[in-house]
Amino acid sequence: MTIERTLILAKPDAVSRGLVGELIARLEQRGYLIVAMRLMQLDGERARTHYVEHKDKPFFAGLVNFITSGPIVALCAEGENAIEGVRQLMGATDPLSAAPGTIRADFAQSIGRNLVHGSDSKMSAERELAIFFSENDFVSRRHDMERWFRE
Ligand code: RTP
Ligand code: MG
Repeated sequence: MTIERTLILAKPDAVSRGLVGELIARLEQRGYLIVAMRLMQLDGERARTHYVEHKDKPFFAGLVNFITSGPIVALCAEGENAIEGVRQLMGATDPLSAAPGTIRADFAQSIGRNLVHGSDSKMSAERELAIFFSENDFVSRRHDMERWFRE
C-alpha cells in the first residue's frame, strides 16, 4: 500500500465559476484526505516555477497568464496511490478527450480552461508541493486514514 501526497490546483476558472466545492467533493468522495489547503493568487514567478517543464512550449506564456489571472485554491490530497488516482479523477488535459464522468469532461470546455491541475508523478508532487506549502502547513489525518481507509 502506497500512501501518497499530491498537489491539486483549482485553477482560476474553477474559482470564478464556483466549482471549488464540486472539485473538493469529488476528491473527498473518492476517499482522498485534504491535508493542506490555501486560497491565493499566484504571481508570475511562482507560476513559471510551477510550470517550468513547459517553459519552451508555445502555450507557456498563455498558461502563466491564465494561472495568474485570478485566485486559485491549492490543496494537498493524501491517500493510497493518490497521484495516479487524482489524475484519473481529473481526466485528460483536453476536455474533448477526457472520459465522461471525469472532472474535465463534466465541467471544462477547452484545453486552456481545464479547471484543475494535479501532479503527474512522485517527483512532480514533491517538487510542486514545496512551491505552495511549507512543512507546518500540513495537518495529520492519520486517524481518519486508519478509521476509514486502511484495513
Ligand atoms: P496540469 O499540469 O495543469 O495538471 O495539466 P496536464 O498535466 O493535464 O497537462 P500538461 O501537459 O502538464 O499541460 C499543462 C497545462 O497547459 C495547458 N496546455 N495547453 N494549447 C495546448 O496545446 C496546451 N497544452 C497544454 C493546459 O491548460 C494544461 O492543463
Ligand atoms: Mg501537467
